[in-house]
Amino acid sequence: MSTTATPTPVSLHPLSPLTGDEMKAARQIVFDSGLATVANEALRFAYVGLCDPPKEVVRAVDSGEPGAAARIDRQVRMVLLQGPEADVVEADVSVTRGQVVRWEVVEDVRPPLQMEEAYAAQLALAACDEWNAALDRRGVVDRSLVQVDPWPAGTFGLEHEKRRRITKCLAYLRESPDDNGYARPLEGLLAIVDLGRGEVLEVIDYGTVPVPPTSGSYYPEHNGPLRTDLKPIEITQPEGPSFVVDGNLVTWQKWSLRVNMDPLEGLVLSTIGYEDGGRVRPIVYRASVSEMVVPYGDPNPMHQWKSAFDTGEWGLGRMADSLTLGCDCLGEIHYFDDVFADERGKPHTKSNAICMHEEDYSILWKHVDMVSGRTEVRRSRRLVVSSIATVGNYEYGFYWYFYLDGTMQLEVKLTGIMSTMAVEGNDPGDHARMVAPGLAAPYHQHLFNVRLDIEVDGPENTVYEVDAVPSPPGEGNPVGSAFGTTTSLLETELAARRNADPSRSRTWRIANRSRRNGLGQPTAYKLLPAATPTLLAGPESSIGRRAAFAAHNLWVTPFSPDERRAAGDYPNQHAGGAGLPTWTAQDRDLVDTDIVLWHTFGITHIPRPEDWPVMPVEYTGFTLVPFGFFDRNPALDVPPSSDGDHCHA
Ligand code: NI
Repeated sequence: MSTTATPTPVSLHPLSPLTGDEMKAARQIVFDSGLATVANEALRFAYVGLCDPPKEVVRAVDSGEPGAAARIDRQVRMVLLQGPEADVVEADVSVTRGQVVRWEVVEDVRPPLQMEEAYAAQLALAACDEWNAALDRRGVVDRSLVQVDPWPAGTFGLEHEKRRRITKCLAYLRESPDDNGYARPLEGLLAIVDLGRGEVLEVIDYGTVPVPPTSGSYYPEHNGPLRTDLKPIEITQPEGPSFVVDGNLVTWQKWSLRVNMDPLEGLVLSTIGYEDGGRVRPIVYRASVSEMVVPYGDPNPMHQWKSAFDTGEWGLGRMADSLTLGCDCLGEIHYFDDVFADERGKPHTKSNAICMHEEDYSILWKHVDMVSGRTEVRRSRRLVVSSIATVGNYEYGFYWYFYLDGTMQLEVKLTGIMSTMAVEGNDPGDHARMVAPGLAAPYHQHLFNVRLDIEVDGPENTVYEVDAVPSPPGEGNPVGSAFGTTTSLLETELAARRNADPSRSRTWRIANRSRRNGLGQPTAYKLLPAATPTLLAGPESSIGRRAAFAAHNLWVTPFSPDERRAAGDYPNQHAGGAGLPTWTAQDRDLVDTDIVLWHTFGITHIPRPEDWPVMPVEYTGFTLVPFGFFDRNPALDVPPSSDGDHCHA
């Protein structure tokens, strides 16, 4: 394909974040290629991210193989829009070689909603007579106080959906420009707008409902008097943090990992390993939130279609906040900036997009010898790598934790403002709860899918489901109290569609059968799920098909570089079935294979008054725990705290 004469010199690791210069070069290579069917200025860049380099190149570079650097081919993946139609171009551009290496038109798919287009939809509504008439019927005088939220539209067989990129818009009335509009939904009013063309397709008025009477301000000036008895907490590390950062490579307490930000997946951690006996033992090759969905459970026609795929329809990296010291993060913080491309392909830097720090986490282990009275206790500490995305009304904080004993964890913090509806007579029906006078919040779920390209002691792994079960009464169980474990090999993809079962303490063990610990057991980690739901919507419903990944807590696939996102690459307005259901239908073999775990977890949110007007953080997540990866507690070498002999006396 076409070649531009100025290849970028390679000085980067294959997993280094894309630089602004690389983005500029890639954009220019596309422009120079002449492959687009529209003028360069009309091209829109819906996605610009790092193309995953081949694993063998990453491993060759990391192991210092001679000549490995020459194999680095830095590639930028782009999703481009050439007009208002529901088609995209996927382009892979090698900035190393200065050429477009793949240019593929994908028909009838939609990228995430574009900010520029979402704004155009708001302008189109403001100029729409029908919309304005509906606002008049609701007594809205000052149009500048109308807040319009463009939502991903879902798929319901509407004529408007065909071949178009559309949004459904909801409206709220603010009291002042910085007011919390969700306190005053303009209920019953819904508009469908063609995003590509900025054209209002339909204004639907289901009838007016009184605007709720009370303010939803969460600002301090409206919520006083403020508490005065909170004394300062200061976190100081006089000698600095214990981690070392080199580019995007982080090493901390035997852990090593690379930190990236993808426009859609948000935080991406790669080549996570743990140093043991002088060498780094691999654990996870790549970890990211591959998709998430927020399906709403209220059949009210205003709300039943709501189901945001906040990864694939908005983007957890695109929506990441710039974080603030002392507010989002406390202590000795290292920030990573995120260089991202805007919708015209131009690079910008979002400062402080990723926060990294250490946290004291209470005790790591302790024992008091009852005979001698000798006590040994160690403090637990964790490395925290986090980012927070603001997606419309909600905030999602993604916190990856690494512990001194080889455990790692993802905790998602949910906060922000609930999606609301105005209700007449304070009767919200069976699928929502009142959270303020005249204001209800529909039941909904937040379901995340994390993609764990796992490599416990190497790429070839095998997964077992392990349950704790009562033993049958009888000769081997004379007093009836015995219990054991069942360990089931998950041999193929269909067998590996599994759900959590807290009543059986269910875990999934990922073992390397070619490596043994000192006891002769295969080295392993276990995935410890939380008490987590699956999708409540029916499997044949629109959202049941589109978010089928959320029907199971566990899926396992053999690694394939094209299988990246649980609901497929283009969940926006997708009819469903893409991603995990399609891939795993092949029922491929999973034993002693380079496998990928896909874990769905989350919460079912039954709103409560205390969640209003802004939600205190709710938590969900999962943990990866070494299970025979080490021969014994790997944290015996953690020294007693420096501030006292009494920790071991
Ligand atoms: Ni919620």
